[in-house]
Amino acid sequence: MMELAGTMPVAAVARRCLDVDDLTDAEVWHIFQRARRFRDLFESRGSHVARSLPPTLSGQVVATLFFEPSTRTRLSFELAAQRLQALVLPLDTERSSLRKAETIADTLRTMEAMGATVAVLRHSDEGLFDALPRDLRLALINAGNGTQAHPTQALLDAFTLGLRWHEFAGKNVVIAGDVEHSRVARSSSRLLARLGARVILTGPPSLRPKQDADPHFAFARFLATEEALPLADALMCLRVQRERHRERSTEPSAATEHAELQDEAYLLRHGLTEERFQQLKPSCLLLHPGPVNRGCEIAAPLVEHPRSLILEQVRSGVFVRMALLEWICGVLP
Ligand code: NCD
Repeated sequence: MMELAGTMPVAAVARRCLDVDDLTDAEVWHIFQRARRFRDLFESRGSHVARSLPPTLSGQVVATLFFEPSTRTRLSFELAAQRLQALVLPLDTERSSLRKAETIADTLRTMEAMGATVAVLRHSDEGLFDALPRDLRLALINAGNGTQAHPTQALLDAFTLGLRWHEFAGKNVVIAGDVEHSRVARSSSRLLARLGARVILTGPPSLRPKQDADPHFAFARFLATEEALPLADALMCLRVQRERHRERSTEPSAATEHAELQDEAYLLRHGLTEERFQQLKPSCLLLHPGPVNRGCEIAAPLVEHPRSLILEQVRSGVFVRMALLEWICGVLP
């Protein structure tokens, strides 16, 4: 009889990465080192190197369940898993039995019964992970839950900056825009502060988070845009997340405030225009988690500015997720 190849070691208790604090500082650095190694291999030897990567995730089955739109996060998780020889089980959430009122927990149990070992989930519900049963044996990765957390985006943002800076101490990272509705701002603020950077938030007052109530922003300060921009060593622009304004009570009620959030008016009042770009240090790096709404949070030509790392973030995202998948499967310490 054919001998079945053994699976890779899995941590005794399935690991979970629901926010950045699920990773210790040492684990974050291991992930960065590993992602750096992957990046160096691809940079020096080109994409052909993919064929000779170690099959560290062979035997793993990575399920992806995206209940909100996604391009970068879903594709890079799926590519990362495939690069390391895991099988990928993407759930078409629109055409699955969830449409027949099956719960997410039962869907996960079903995928687990088929052999899925890791589930990568994105959902608009902040409470999703708290509501999942404890007895799931799958490892879980949060690919974005409502406005709450997006740990892998935070990891790839910090990794991308770390490639340029080597250390975070003394660096100011300004996160600008719709901070209130941004899970990226929450997870990135937390991680960047942990790594030693100073985090400054800025944006329209109506989209300013209530910091007292939010531990993610405990180490960040909010400044007016004119004050914040000249301090920035990196500026991260955020998309105006209109889909969340509709869902939440924080929707600006006054018609004037609402008009202020329309693309052109927003760019002029709060966005990164060419004029505001001139207020930045000549070395300031530009980030954006994507998707970019050109001409809203950022003037279209600045997306391709030589100091823009927007596509570099996307590239890093694959390597960081390869490393994170190894960590979640117990291959990395
Ligand atoms: C972000 C998200 O989904 O939170 N995008 C991403 O994952 N790259 C930001 C956004 O949607 O604006």
